[in-house]
Amino acid sequence: MEIVREPAEMRRIVELARARGKTVGLVPTMGFFHRGHLELMRRAVAECDEVVVTLFVNPTQFAPGDDLADYPRDFDRDRRLAESEGVSYLFAPGPGEIYPRGFATSVEVEGLSSVMCGAGRPGHFQGVATVVAKLFNIVPAQAAYFGQKDAQQLAVIGAMARDLNFPVVIKAVPTMREDDGLAMSSRNVYLEPEEREAATALFHSLTAARELICSGERDASVIREAIGEVISAEPLVSLEYVSICGNIYLEPLSELSGEVLIALAARVGKARLIDNMVFELG
Ligand code: PAJ
Repeated sequence: MEIVREPAEMRRIVELARARGKTVGLVPTMGFFHRGHLELMRRAVAECDEVVVTLFVNPTQFAPGDDLADYPRDFDRDRRLAESEGVSYLFAPGPGEIYPRGFATSVEVEGLSSVMCGAGRPGHFQGVATVVAKLFNIVPAQAAYFGQKDAQQLAVIGAMARDLNFPVVIKAVPTMREDDGLAMSSRNVYLEPEEREAATALFHSLTAARELICSGERDASVIREAIGEVISAEPLVSLEYVSICGNIYLEPLSELSGEVLIALAARVGKARLIDNMVFELG
């Protein structure tokens, strides 16, 4: 596996691979890999000839007061893990390569960026959309892999790729979980042992929703209430929002039908955690 720091060199490598008839897959990350990241790499390696993993802790998607300075990092471990998954290139630019002096352009996916997590984190999805647009240009891959764990991010990137005609297929990879159901996240390292246990309430609340849906419930307010009950039984977890909406356009639903996303965010100690499930209903 080769480590690349320069955007121009990265693009040249990918263009050369494409000219030789190779398929290229892109896996954007902020590093500190866990099994979720590795699953994206595995899918990409299985489906593409060459895989580029990008590792860049993107400052523009963090607000002042967010955890940018504390965001966990371990480059050597990440490099070893990516290499052992069969990744061809690890693109790890510095902030100056991505945001050189005079950088002034941004990508805003209106509507989708201001609901749910966007309501509490203004500017976050603009930071994500802008850096991912840049990565799509620096790494002109045929396919890009994103986790279902970040359902709203997936919706925002899907909309951006459609709206701006990026010639890349967006692939969604299922959420990887710990044995007790907690969705894997780089931010789980912030949890104290008690909080770590309490954090399973997010998954349990979604499981309660799934059971209701399986037994035929379609009223969003009933499902929302059931989620609220599971979360409020856990004093260390404070719910930020529950969204019951369409999975592509994130429009709120009062009656569940079609492809439904149930997503939530909660604070547990100093961590802000998110989780979701998607349901295909008739
Ligand atoms: P990061 O949080 O490092 O996540 C990188 C990718 O891993 C994202 O597509 C995310 O959805 C996926 N992922 C995280 N946890 C997962 C899990 N438990 N199961 C499956 N996939 C999981 O998301 C970002 O970085 C950034 O916003 C980025 C897209 C790189 C732009 O800066």
